[in-house]
Amino acid sequence: MEMLKSVNDYVKEHMGSREELPIFHVSSPIGWINDPNGFSVYGGMIHLFYQYHPYSCEWGPMYWGHCVTEDMVRWRTMPVALAPDQSYDKDGCFSGSAIEVDGKHVLCYTGRMIDQDKNGKIVERQNQCIAFGNGKEYRKSEYNPVITGDMLPKNFSRQDFRDPKVWEKNGTYYLIVGNHDNQNKGQVLLFSSKNLLDWKYENVLAKDQQGDIGIMWECPDFFPLGEKYILLCSPQNMMAQGYEFHNGHNSIYYTGSFDYEKKLFKKGIPLSLDYGMDFYAPQTTEMPDGRRVMIAWMKSWDTCLIPREQEWQGMMTFPRELKMKCDRLVQTPVHEIDDFRRNRVCYQKKIIAGKQELPGIRGRIIDLTVEFIQEEFEIFRIELAHDQRYTTSFIYHVKERILEMDRTYCGVNRDVVCQRKMKLDSENNNLKLRFLMDKYSIELFVNDGCQVATTVIATPMSADRIIFCCDGKAVIDIEKYDIIV
Ligand code: FRU
Repeated sequence: MEMLKSVNDYVKEHMGSREELPIFHVSSPIGWINDPNGFSVYGGMIHLFYQYHPYSCEWGPMYWGHCVTEDMVRWRTMPVALAPDQSYDKDGCFSGSAIEVDGKHVLCYTGRMIDQDKNGKIVERQNQCIAFGNGKEYRKSEYNPVITGDMLPKNFSRQDFRDPKVWEKNGTYYLIVGNHDNQNKGQVLLFSSKNLLDWKYENVLAKDQQGDIGIMWECPDFFPLGEKYILLCSPQNMMAQGYEFHNGHNSIYYTGSFDYEKKLFKKGIPLSLDYGMDFYAPQTTEMPDGRRVMIAWMKSWDTCLIPREQEWQGMMTFPRELKMKCDRLVQTPVHEIDDFRRNRVCYQKKIIAGKQELPGIRGRIIDLTVEFIQEEFEIFRIELAHDQRYTTSFIYHVKERILEMDRTYCGVNRDVVCQRKMKLDSENNNLKLRFLMDKYSIELFVNDGCQVATTVIATPMSADRIIFCCDGKAVIDIEKYDIIV
């Protein structure tokens, strides 16, 4: 308990009120955050925990930070929920999930420990643990760890065995964990339990058969959607294929069917969740009204560049509602954001030829939609967060149906991960681009969320111009709102 008290004292003392924080995205109050954890509804509130190292802007021994909301737009920071203060989690309380059981809020997480074995060799172990709470304070179970590597088949890693996602079905608890086998093939393992304490290893829910989907599958999630079951996971060190999977550490999904009797998931091909440069470790939960909502870390391990003077690092994506359309996931910002749209500016059938700026179309905390009505051009550029020095470009190559993103001049001082191209899916509809911007982030929803691209920028807030530029003639509809919370 001492560690928890001192981390909470530290956060209280240092968090202050930072003007530069995003206004409708979860961000770190002070220090570093990564993965979303324990996304769940409990006690009439929506809870989000996160991997947290408040003491610096770099990853370190992991705590679980915590925040709550009623509308997924306005979030309130809560006391840190878990500290790495037990022998079985002393090297980090790693990612996990949450569930309500008998009125209690139960957190499932990975306890990480690194020790020397009797030959002096450093050995890391990751085991699954639980904690019970009331939405504010959490107590670790005396039976921890409740799932250990000893329960696994011999050729499965005991070191990379993390990120439990728990759910309940017909009186049984199920839990999946990310893992790999001794050939570094990523996999997701399934467990079951009647009481959350005694667990049985069931089988491999899904596996990288070919060995071409990274080396370790982190942060799995599994849920029904429409007629299908969806598996999300984040494979580490994955090779790009065509225009897909360019982040190295990627987040992908499989659609398929699941048989609870046989515990068999028949999956299709791996698909990209997001085409931007900053998206990892997504997690979902079901809202009381039945919506399946996903939130992700708005960063990727290779893009953690922030201005040197900044005292916080890390944001979450805006929560996205998931739906199925023609066997693909469609993601849209949860509709709660609509209540915070103000100052509508709208242009219909606007002709753009050359470079143009439009009265009323600017800003950094905005919801902007651009729809193409006529495309008599080869290249159309949209410059966001723009001034003489800074810009972030979205470039539409109409013939190739490529959308290119370029943040080389957004204010980052190393342009290693600054450009990305995505192949646009549908050819039948007008191209429609919806940009959700919140100071230092741009989430782009293409064609009502059929494809999404998430990008973090480091541009001073004064750069708020928006430029349209076309090498021929375009006819577009534009709608822009400020978001005011
Ligand atoms: C994913 C991840 C998880 C792990 C956590 C540690 O980003 O590597 O697998 O639990 O981060 O912070």
